[in-house]
Amino acid sequence: MDASETPTGTAAETPTRVESWTEWDPLRHVIVGRADDGHIPPPEPALDAKVPEDSDMRGQWGRRPQETIDRANALLDGFADLLRKRGVRVDRPVPVDFSQAVTTPDFHTPSQFGCMPPRDVLLTVGREILEATMSYRCRWFEYLCYRPLMQRYWEEDPGFRHEAAPKPRLTDADYHPDYLSDTIGEAKRLEWAAARHFVTTEEEPLFDAADVLRFGRDLVVQHGFTTNRKGIEWLRRHFPDHRVHAVNFPGDPYPIHIDATFSPMRPGLILNNPQRRLPDEQRKLFERNGWEIVDAAPPAHQTPPPLCYSSVWLSMNVLVLDPKTVCVEESEVYQADQLDRLGFEVVPVALRDAYAFGGGLHCCTADVRREGELQDYFPAG
Ligand code: GLY
Repeated sequence: MDASETPTGTAAETPTRVESWTEWDPLRHVIVGRADDGHIPPPEPALDAKVPEDSDMRGQWGRRPQETIDRANALLDGFADLLRKRGVRVDRPVPVDFSQAVTTPDFHTPSQFGCMPPRDVLLTVGREILEATMSYRCRWFEYLCYRPLMQRYWEEDPGFRHEAAPKPRLTDADYHPDYLSDTIGEAKRLEWAAARHFVTTEEEPLFDAADVLRFGRDLVVQHGFTTNRKGIEWLRRHFPDHRVHAVNFPGDPYPIHIDATFSPMRPGLILNNPQRRLPDEQRKLFERNGWEIVDAAPPAHQTPPPLCYSSVWLSMNVLVLDPKTVCVEESEVYQADQLDRLGFEVVPVALRDAYAFGGGLHCCTADVRREGELQDYFPAG
């Protein structure tokens, strides 16, 4: 099994052209992750700050049980087939051996993570795919899983720009030591989140690609655990033709990745997690440009699946196929109903048993090609 695996379905011959400007234009080519060799990583500062204090994952690390890997892969394969049947070309990463340690001159961690969520690593902006710095030591080499695909796109599409952000050093200076306690408590975490005191410091630019949302000429970037101010400034300088907006969500005690918090569905419509509302001052950009921000429906589940890093709000981690069609996890009946009432065709997809490997339907994909050209969705500035 490798990146050249022959896809089934009508999309097999879709020629390679990397280009995607938004989260909602019609999807033509996508990468879907794999659960192979998925690991719970060993303790490290960024990870310890993220794992909830009452989580069953605290203190555990190592390779995930094979039956859970097989089940997650069956679901990811099923999602890939569903997309192919709808005319989307699907490519898959090539996993490395995640049991290998990561050792650099600056740090050592005894194992890695996996390659289920390409969205965390790869940011497609127009004709470019940018590899994020990443902010966890265990994810330092994750880009290697996507290099066979990047190499192929580079050879097949002369207009494709393959970029990599500067690899960070990830020394202890990158992490605030007060986050290393496992008895901080939710009230203190919320106070810190409101004050934008996150686990990552401003030692060097850090960002995960899943903190970035694409709205044509505008990029909206979450400042939180995995993306710091310097990471946002790095993106601003790297994309000089874009306007880059920093946002934060004070109601989230574990703010990593924007896509279970703020999800654009189509021009003019965003779902916002009602426990993590965008602050009033930051809403103005959307309001003066006629965008509606609606509270997402409640999750169908009270708890995440076992050994899962994410919250129950993966309910709103949906994949938009085009401005009228959206994939929703099949057990998330309230989210599906809300999107149905908002006028979407809802495509149910079974994925919950794969959540523990890195997230939901948005996380486990990365755009290669969406139709549509660069547009300004915020003309009022
Ligand atoms: N930020 C991911 C989650 O809510 O689980």
